[in-house]
Formats: sequence, C-alpha cells, structure tokens
Amino acid sequence: MKIKAIYEKNDLKLDNYNLLLNETLFHNANGYIGIRSAFEEGYPDDFTTIRGQYINGFYDFTQAKQAENIFGLTQEKQTMLNVADTQAINIYFDDEKFNMFEGTVLKSKRWVDMEKGITGRFVSWRSPKGKELEITVIRMASFHQLSLFTIEYQINPINFSSDVMIESNHNGNVANYFDPNDPRNADESFQYLTPLSCYIQYGASYINSTTSKSGLEVCSCVKNFLSGESERQFIINESNAKCQMCTFAQPGKTIKLVKYAVFSDSLRVEDCKIHAAAEMKKALSVSLQELYKYQEDYLTEYWENCYVEIQGDNELNMALRYNLFQLIQSVSKDEYGNIAPKGLSGEGYEGHYFWDSEMYIQPFFTITNPQVTKSLIAYRYETLGMAKENAKILGHKKGALYPWRTIMGKECSGYFPAGSAQYHINGDIAYSIIAYYLATKDGDFIQDKGAEIIFETARLWMDVGNFYNGQFHINDVTGPDEYTCIVNNNYYTNALAQYHLQWAVKLYFQMRKLPEFRKMQRRIRLGLEEIDGFKKAAQRMYLPYDEKLKINPQDDSFLQKNRWDIDTIPKKNFPLLLHYHPLHLYRHQVCKQPDTILAHFILEDSQSQETMRNSFEYYEKITTHDSSLSRCIFSIVASRLGMEDKAFKYFGDSTKLDLMDMHKNTKDGIHTANMGGNYMAIIYGFGGVRLKESGIYFAPILPKKWKGYRFRICVENSRIIVGITKDSCTFLLEHGEAKKINVYNKEYLLDGKLTIRREKASWREA
Ligand code: BGC
Repeated sequence: MKIKAIYEKNDLKLDNYNLLLNETLFHNANGYIGIRSAFEEGYPDDFTTIRGQYINGFYDFTQAKQAENIFGLTQEKQTMLNVADTQAINIYFDDEKFNMFEGTVLKSKRWVDMEKGITGRFVSWRSPKGKELEITVIRMASFHQLSLFTIEYQINPINFSSDVMIESNHNGNVANYFDPNDPRNADESFQYLTPLSCYIQYGASYINSTTSKSGLEVCSCVKNFLSGESERQFIINESNAKCQMCTFAQPGKTIKLVKYAVFSDSLRVEDCKIHAAAEMKKALSVSLQELYKYQEDYLTEYWENCYVEIQGDNELNMALRYNLFQLIQSVSKDEYGNIAPKGLSGEGYEGHYFWDSEMYIQPFFTITNPQVTKSLIAYRYETLGMAKENAKILGHKKGALYPWRTIMGKECSGYFPAGSAQYHINGDIAYSIIAYYLATKDGDFIQDKGAEIIFETARLWMDVGNFYNGQFHINDVTGPDEYTCIVNNNYYTNALAQYHLQWAVKLYFQMRKLPEFRKMQRRIRLGLEEIDGFKKAAQRMYLPYDEKLKINPQDDSFLQKNRWDIDTIPKKNFPLLLHYHPLHLYRHQVCKQPDTILAHFILEDSQSQETMRNSFEYYEKITTHDSSLSRCIFSIVASRLGMEDKAFKYFGDSTKLDLMDMHKNTKDGIHTANMGGNYMAIIYGFGGVRLKESGIYFAPILPKKWKGYRFRICVENSRIIVGITKDSCTFLLEHGEAKKINVYNKEYLLDGKLTIRREKASWREA
C-alpha cells in the first residue's frame, strides 16, 4: 500500500487564529532555514502574524530579567532570530490588488507534499470589480542546497486582460514575536538585527545585517525571474529592497514568478556577503525543475531509511508521516545547530535546545539516519567547554554541566527550579551517546568525541552527590517532571546517573589502551582513582523504593504530599502551569509528564515487571500530560506492560497533537519531541525494540484495530525490515552481516528471513 504523502487543508478559515496555525503547519524548513507560511501578500493590519524566517543556531543575546540579583542566575539569554523576510509578493491589476480579505475567495487550499518536500497554496479569487484569477504557489526549503528557499508563484487570469505589476519584497526590518502572557514565549519586543547594507548587484538584492550583541552577521540575497517581463525597477532604502516588475495578464496565459532567496551567516562562513553571492550563483546554475528533483531524491532516501507503515489505519499513517517529515525539516545538518522543540517553525521557547534532542528525537535518528545523531552529539561536543564553565558557576569543582536550555552553549533558563536544576540533562546526553554506540558500534567517534563528554559529565555526579549512610545520594535537583522541583533523590536522575557512571567505568576499561583515548585521558586528567570513585557511587546509588506501594517514589518526599485528584480540576485550568503558582504545584502529588515512568522505559532492567506495573498505575492517575512529551512515553510503557488498549489510546492522542492543535499552541510552532516520541511509541513501544549490550531485542504486540505494521531499522550498518501481522512476526535482513536477534526472549540468528509466531500482549505480563 502506498502511504498518502500529501497533507492538505481545504476551504481555509481566514480568522486570525487559523492563519497563525497554518503558518506553522505549512512552514518550510530544511534544518538550516525555516520559513513560516504567512500569505505572501500579508493579512489585514489589525491581524497578528508570526511572519518568521529563522536560521538554526543563529542567535543574539538578550537580557534575562531576574527580580533579584542572586549569584549565578542567568543574566543574559540567547534568542533565535527572525531574519530578513523574503516571502512578500504583491500583485496589482490596474487599480486593484490581490487580497484574500477583499473580494470573494472562491476556493482556497494548502498542502504539504512530504515526498516532494514542497508546500502548496491554491486560491481562486474574484476581485471586488469582478476580475477572476487563480494563484498557485509552490515553496521549497532545499535539502540539496541548505541556504536556498524558493517560491514559484503562478497567476492564471480567468476572465480579464490587464497590466500587472508584481512587487517582490526583501525586507530586513524585522523583529521577533513576543507574548507577555505565555512563559513559553519571549515576553518583550526587541529589534535584534540592524541592517548594515542593502544593495543591488547583478539584478539581485542583498541585505546584510548584524546582531545587537552576539557580533554575528547574516546576509540574504534575493533574485526574481518573471515570465513575459516588460519592465523592472528596484526601490531600495537602508533595510528594504522592492523589485517591481511589469507584465501583461490575459486569459489562458500563465504568469510565472520564481523568487530565489539564499541565506548565509557568519557562524558558519567568514564573509557572508561573498558566500551569499556564491550560493545564489550555485542555485541558479541548475533549473528549478532540477532543484525539485534533488529535493525528491533526498526525501526518497529519507523515507526509505525511516520506513514505517501501519496496515489498516490511514489517518494514523498520515499523521505519523507528517511527524517524521517535520523531524527532517527541523534537525540541523551541521554541528552549529541542534533541534529545537519547535524546530524552525516558530519562536516558542525562543529556539533553545533542550534534552528533547537526546531523549525524544535522537532515538529516531539513531536507528534510521545515525549520521544525524552523530552531528547532534558533535554539537554537544563543541559546547563542552561552556558546559564546564556552567558547572563552575553552579559551584562544582570539576566536570561539565550542560545547560538546560541554550542555543550556543550558555545557560538560558530564567527560572532555575524548573531549568538549571534539571541535572538529568547530563545523564540524558550520556545515555544518548551510549545508545548511538550500541546502535552503530562506532568506537572511533566515541574515542574522538563521545567518551570525553561521558567522563566530564560523569564527574559532575561525584560532586553533586555524596555518600550518606553508605549510599550515594543526589540532592536538590529537579527530574523531568516540572511540577515537582528541587528534590532529593529523584528516581529518574539517580537511576540514570547510575547507568551513566557504570558506562563511564566500562568505557574506560574498554578503551584505555587506544592511543586517541589515552591522549584525551591525559588532557582531561582522568585517573584510575576517579574511575574507582565512579564505580563505588554507581554500586551504592540510592534508588528510592516504597515497600508499601511497591513502587519507586519520584523522590524522597513525593509520597508525603497530598495527591491532587486531576478529575476535580476544571478543564479550563490546564495546563496547570498557566493557572497555579509553582509552589502550589510542588506541594502536591501531580505530574506534568512522565518521570519515574520514563526511567522505567529507558532503564527497564533496573526494576522488576511488578514494580513497573505498580508505578505505571500509580503515576498515571496523577499525570496531567500538560507537556507534549508525555503521552508517547505512557504509550511505550503501556506496551511494555502488555496494556495494549491503553498503549493504543495514548499513541493515537499523541500522534495527532499538532495536526489537531491539541495543546492549543501549535501556532507557536510544532512539537518536535512529541514527534520523535510518537515514532518511538511504534518501534520501541508496539515493536518492543531495545538495543542493549547483549543485542537487539524485539517483542512485538499488535493493536486490535490494526491489521499489521512494518518498519525498517538500521543497526550496525545492517538493515532489518520487521513486519508484524495478526499471526506472525517476520524479520528480513535486507543487507549487512547476519545478526543475532532476540525475539520474545529467545535468540535467533537472522541471516535472510525469519518468521515466527506472534505472541499475544499477555506475553508481556510474564
Ligand atoms: C517540558 C520539558 C521540555 C520543554 C521543551 C516543557 O514543557 O516540561 O520537558 O524539555 O517543554 O519541549
């Protein structure tokens, strides 16, 4: 079966909220640039638009307001910048202008084609004076040439002939979006970019701007090509270049404008003006059709690598495809950037990178496109120096503490209890490097970059934790659940720190004889004594356990608090963070997202099945899922425990989160961690895939509503296609060496095709 690769919306609503939502849903991005899908001709003056174009990793510094000047709090944060606007196009016919908010919209639709990597807009419109025309717009952020964004704009006059003037704008006078009422957005307006020069060269406009504090530059270059052009003039000032082009409209004759825009930034190149000119030349050296072809080729390979298909649920297939398309649109392709919670689709969380990358998104890339994970780890490696500085600010003598949220490597979190205190980010990063290693066995990369991160971050546990009554405790940290902050012995943190320390010891002994490793070891002064310390702390790590409930309490004091019955909370009060003081939340047993439950997924061997089941039942009742990172993990753990219907319900709700705007904030951007989590809910959840030192594990279950599902994963250069049906599980080694796999706890050698009987979900109860 062919999965539908086009997501479309017909008869668009023109109210402000829907316009903002569609700006996000139909944005174009390629991991370097992202362009929100605003109407080329704009909206009425009293409408809000988040008309953004962003570059991954490109930032400015801005003040982080702190009410009291307490030592060590973040005084300055980074923000992802809205760079020059290259999407404006206005059409004038005699004395009328194309405008969706005047005259009559006869038809209007938008789509994203996930195989071709383009978005489309179609409008059939009648002007107030009766001129009818059709407009088709195709936009592309090129994967083949990351600097390039194109707009192909076609006008079909239906019932009139007239002179036409097309004005294509290139505007450097831009600001970022802000919303003082939502802590998940920037709270004040500020003009970050100052245009330094705006000029025309060889028929292209250039705007070169500088940031206010970070000392970075960005240059954009725009060139327009209009069919049947009779006349052209440029109107420019210090920040804006308008290209006005004339032609003639008549029925049956399509007018076509192609607008090329390229971006270049001084993070990545020395002279962005020269580089932008070269990039424009490169873009124009092939035809637009060839560029479309390269785009499709890139995506053909991508879809092949991350193939996943559900038999019997087209709606979910489409939603899942949309999720995976957004991940490749959002993720940086170089080590100057990472992947933000909103990708490059909006300004929510100001473009900062979080643990979302390591715990929700990398698990997808690691088994489908491991080179992407490698680049994300390289980004962390590049910022290791700043993580060491950060550790010092927080009073640690040794080691590195990665910032909770950042762009260039320095901490940006303004509210430290739910920010910097989330020390688990160190463990998350280490965990993701180990996962990459288990999936690829890329020892060279571990020697080169991964191990150093693992050791420097492991060192921090030794400083933040201490031995007490013979056990190793970690106090005053925050776990993943942001409704419970600054606690002692958060189960997730301690269990992860234990795993992290164990691996640090293991890697040390595995690699200590290798020359590159030895160089690094000398450079960071890592000795056997320290490794012994790691070993002891891991062995004696304190993991809270409640004998009565037979669960892992979230932390030392969690079970002493009053439980908050979620059913008694009025619907309008969700998400709780927008309606209750943090202290009120902290004093109750109420969770924003999985914490102990997430630990049960990633470290399932640390606990018995019974404890995990008890925990699941306990925490499920007090979790609000106010974070988009929540339901997917509940789905995975429900699968793990054989609760097939629950797993399915959580998965369905989670997968359509953005397409259905379930959190009512998709206008600020997509939710990339959720998208990675949804992929995990199939492969790691229903498929039961685990990559461990002892091998690759599968334990598939099948939701009742599905006929089956299939997916492809890549482990150590071998590609395996897995097919699950009502009766059987089939494993096909497409290429690579024969692999030992473990299915339902039995070992097999996969060398070709293997078919075995599918077990019922109750198998998991064993
Ligand atoms: C979640 C965090 C997450 C952040 C960015 C918050 O709502 O609680 O876990 O890292 O969003 O996605």
